[in-house]
Amino acid sequence: MPPVFFPDAEEPTSLRLPPPLVGKSGFSLMASASLISDTEPWKDLKEHVNEINKTHLRDLLNDVERSQSMMVENDGIILDYSRQRARLDTIDKLFKLAEAAQLRQKIDRMYNGEHINSTENRSVLHIALRAPRDKNFYSDGKSVVPDVWNVLDKIKDFSERVRNGSWVGATGKALKDVVAIGIGGSFLGPLFVHTALQTDPEAAECAKGRQLQFLANVDPVDVARNIKGLNPETTLVVVVSKTFTTAETMLNARTMREWISSALGPQAVAKHMVAVSTNLVLVEKFGIDPANAFAFWDWVGGRYSVCSAVGVLPLSLQYGFPTVEKFLNGASNIDAHFHSTPFEKNLPVLLGLLSVWNATFLGYPARAILPYSQSLEKFAPHIQQVSMESNGKGVSIDGIPLPFETGEIDFGEPGTNGQHSFYQLIHQGRVIPCDFIGAIRSQQPVYLKGEVVSNHDELMSNFFAQPDALAYGKTPEQLLLENVAAHLIPHKTFSGNRPSLSLLLPSLNAYNIGQLLAIYEHRIAVEGFIWGINSFDQWGVELGKVLASQVRKQLHVSRTKGEPVQGFNVSTTTLLTKYLE
Ligand code: F6P
Repeated sequence: MPPVFFPDAEEPTSLRLPPPLVGKSGFSLMASASLISDTEPWKDLKEHVNEINKTHLRDLLNDVERSQSMMVENDGIILDYSRQRARLDTIDKLFKLAEAAQLRQKIDRMYNGEHINSTENRSVLHIALRAPRDKNFYSDGKSVVPDVWNVLDKIKDFSERVRNGSWVGATGKALKDVVAIGIGGSFLGPLFVHTALQTDPEAAECAKGRQLQFLANVDPVDVARNIKGLNPETTLVVVVSKTFTTAETMLNARTMREWISSALGPQAVAKHMVAVSTNLVLVEKFGIDPANAFAFWDWVGGRYSVCSAVGVLPLSLQYGFPTVEKFLNGASNIDAHFHSTPFEKNLPVLLGLLSVWNATFLGYPARAILPYSQSLEKFAPHIQQVSMESNGKGVSIDGIPLPFETGEIDFGEPGTNGQHSFYQLIHQGRVIPCDFIGAIRSQQPVYLKGEVVSNHDELMSNFFAQPDALAYGKTPEQLLLENVAAHLIPHKTFSGNRPSLSLLLPSLNAYNIGQLLAIYEHRIAVEGFIWGINSFDQWGVELGKVLASQVRKQLHVSRTKGEPVQGFNVSTTTLLTKYLE
């Protein structure tokens, strides 16, 4: 097939092969590297599963001392992991595993800015994005915190000017609507935080009269939904892309650029489009003034970028910078906790170790994220990317194929909606470890006269009840005592012994939302550190992109020159031909 020239299509620059796994001397590094599964603590835990299989949560929960020691608090956030299928000696064994995996050293290496993302030769420093001004985190010998604050100050200034009407659109109108274009890590985190802040009274007050929307999918339906009811004169478009090459984002950016320039003239783009990227050269090439570009850095992974300009810019435009600063402070609180708290009281460490226990040793492949809060409805979709893109790996960081599975299948919905959807399977079908997340205070309390409890108490009654239903279940003997008909007893029996953990937050303000985000980010890092994988690359998403680009080229030549489909297998050729007809 002759090469086809696409004027505006750019190949992802990240399409580089990882460095060969050969040491300087020419010997393969694989031979000397070892796997965590070869260590004694791992083998001990494997054996220990037989012990745990003899227990039932019904009995484990009778042990008051055990339950009390399985409750940990940090800054008002309580983690209760007493409903895990674990005894106190299980936790000790997990700490031994952490030691064998050099968890402490790996956390330190991350905080020291070492290039722990070895296949991309990068530091992993999203913690620096929320560091106080006077703290330092170093990458390649240079503190990155001053650069972070330069961008934060620029965002503060720009968002204030847009919000107070001193930055106006091409026709002199204030820009009250923002459309953030981005996908994956350049979308899911900001969407989660926006959805959570929307109903926080303090944040909502700051967002009065303003609108923030997200355009992610290249499906033209998503563009149509976004521009419905929008006036280009009052709209600011923020193009968010770490690489500024992602096909979907760039096509959506071109579509929105066309929407603005056809309504207001090409010169309007300068006033109505800004960008967030690590690739400022491509931002300028696209036609956005570099002065209106907000940088971040290659030491920020896409899925860990919500605290960079990726999230901070659109959220500051909507809620004002001071609200977003509270969110950053919450994340920073957990960063300090994760770095300095002994493992026994360390929320992300405990959560990460328990996830490894469930996924690898007990063999539960999935994990349900169940926030009892509608404002957290986009939390599970965000964590899905952070977790599954980070830990869905098949080889160790040294390139050795793993003899065990890593990662979990994450999914979730807010309670109580989920209860009326998939909980049947969780209670009587497959065993799926659950994260129950709740808040003591509602963002929007409602007390109806004459009702037994407030609406929030009603919601939280379920938050407290579900973990026990899963743990205790219901026996045939109990059903007999309740005079349940014999033929229904098997159907109404609940085996119980289904693990869950509960995270209770004081409330869901900007600060707590930042804490929740950082707890999960670090938990996922802990899991990867234990499994011995690289949680910070994502080579698995590249192949599909390459194949899509071949199809794109085929569609172009078939549509413009009438050339038949060629170079694909029978299945794809038939489908493509049908599509082109
Ligand atoms: O889906 C793959 C991915 O590279 C993610 O890791 C990333 O968050 C997303 O695409 C978007 O990338 P970018 O911000 O470069 O447009």
